[in-house]
Amino acid sequence: MSLQLPPLLEAAIEAFFTPEHIAANDIQQHEWEMRSLLKLMLDVLKPERTVELGTYKGFTAALLSLATSEKTISLDITDYGTDYAKQYARNLQLFLTDAAIDGVEQVIGNHLGGPIDLLYIDDGHYYETIVKEFALWSPMVRSGGWIVFHDINPLANIGPHGTQPDSIQVPRFWKELNGDKTELIANAQNKYRGHLPHGGIGILKV
Ligand SMILES: C[S@@+](CC[C@H](N)C(=O)[O-])C[C@H]1O[C@@H](n2cnc3c(N)ncnc32)[C@H](O)[C@@H]1O
Repeated sequence: MSLQLPPLLEAAIEAFFTPEHIAANDIQQHEWEMRSLLKLMLDVLKPERTVELGTYKGFTAALLSLATSEKTISLDITDYGTDYAKQYARNLQLFLTDAAIDGVEQVIGNHLGGPIDLLYIDDGHYYETIVKEFALWSPMVRSGGWIVFHDINPLANIGPHGTQPDSIQVPRFWKELNGDKTELIANAQNKYRGHLPHGGIGILKV
C-alpha cells in the first residue's frame, strides 16, 4: 500500500521527521506508524472531530489535524512549547488541562461541537491512568469511531521509550482490551524514519 499523503501532510512530515527533531525526541512517533494511521484516517474513517490526550510539542496534534476535516483538540497538563508545530496545523485547539479528571471530557466535548470520531491516547502511560481515561473518554467517541493508543508495543520498553520502563503500561491494557483491534507496529524492513523498536499504534474500532 502506498503511504503517499496529500501535500500539506507531506510538507509537515518533512518538517517534523528531520534528524534533529528525531534525535531531540520532538517527534515521538515512527514515520511508518504515523503515515499508516493518517492514510487510514483519510481513506477509511474520514474524521470530522479528533481529540488527542498528550500534546507534548504538538507534532502529532498537527498531523492529526491535517487528516481531520472540522476540528482537532489536544490536551496536556504541561506546556512544552507548541509554536513550531502549530504553524503546520489546521483547525487545532490546545488546552492545558489534566485529561484524567472527571468532567474534563464534557468540557472538551462542548468545545468540539459534536462526538469524537478519533481519540488518540498518548498521555499518562500508567495502567491506572489508561483505565481511568478509557472510562471517561470512550463514551464521547461515536459508534464506528476509533480509539487509538500509542505505545502498545511491549518491545518499546527496551527501545528509546525505555527511558520510562516502568511507566509504559499501555501494552498490558491493550492486550486485555476486547474488540475489533488493528495494530500498526513498524519493523526494520521499511525505509521510514524513527527509532526502532517503536511504540506501536493500536486502533480500537468502537
Ligand atoms: C508521550 S508525550 C505525548 C507525545 C505526543 N502525543 C506526540 O506524539 O508528540 C506525553 C504527554 O502527556 C502529558 N500528560 C501526562 N499525563 C497527562 C494527563 N493526565 N493529562 C494531560 N496530559 C498528560 C505529558 O505532559 C506529555 O507531554
